[in-house]
Amino acid sequence: MARERKDYFYRKAKSEGYRARSAFKLQQINKRFRLIKRGDAVLDLGAAPGGWLQVAKEISGGPVVGVDLLTIEPIDGVTTIKADITAAKTLDLIREALGGQADVVICDAAPNLSGNWTLDHARSIDLSQSALKVAKEVLKPDGNFLVKVFQGDAFMDYLSDVRENFWKTQAHSPAASRKESAEMYVVGQGIFRSPVKIGDVFDLEIVGIGNSGDGVANVEGFKVFVPGAAVGDKVHVKIKSIRSGHAVGVVEAVGTPSD
Ligand SMILES: C[S@@+](CC[C@H](N)C(=O)[O-])C[C@H]1O[C@@H](n2cnc3c(N)ncnc32)[C@H](O)[C@@H]1O
Repeated sequence: MARERKDYFYRKAKSEGYRARSAFKLQQINKRFRLIKRGDAVLDLGAAPGGWLQVAKEISGGPVVGVDLLTIEPIDGVTTIKADITAAKTLDLIREALGGQADVVICDAAPNLSGNWTLDHARSIDLSQSALKVAKEVLKPDGNFLVKVFQGDAFMDYLSDVRENFWKTQAHSPAASRKESAEMYVVGQGIFRSPVKIGDVFDLEIVGIGNSGDGVANVEGFKVFVPGAAVGDKVHVKIKSIRSGHAVGVVEAVGTPSD
């Protein structure tokens, strides 16, 4: 608390009526990425005491739902749920409260710190994975995602998981985060649903060539880039990666089994 009393953003939050200094992180992040827009339905995971909920409500003016293990004191026009974001049944409560899908899912959830960094990082990654799972369930097509993650060994893997689901994914640290903090925010813009999964195999025909010279095939209108393949090739392709709204596959065999 001694440090917090001296903290600029802590005092600013107090004087401007925000419940937490983190309110300024969301303001700064939203100014830069425009994740929340007027009228948006917003879901906030790990929302107590409610600084982000206050900011989300101010920006969107639309339906805002907050979930936390702790009770959140009421905020005008905001629905709150006391629940664990890692529990499967919480999804039903969220759907009921939203009454539809969300335009934006934000998550500032943090574990109780144990002081053991490896453990705290692992718990933070668990919470972030749960948030991604909820986002995949409730976001409208093209919806946005913002999540806090403590940096550590599993950070880059988590970033790739987000990248597999959004057109644009970036890691960002807002000015209002303390300099010594190891927290990072992951921003996913424009969720897409892919009809292919990593490891799937398809018999495909190459119908075009992409800017970088890779062959291009389609699965249900979804682009699959196939390095080394030429227009007209019929190839047996294994999906290797999915990111930014397309997949990349490797040729396992040339010609389909029916050839
Ligand atoms: C840093 S605070 C969030 C601050 C909030 N963004 C604000 O502006 O007021 C992190 C919150 O995550 C919550 N949390 C941690 N694990 C959770 C879980 N499994 N389910 C729901 N909330 C959780 C904690 O109870 C805590 O209130």
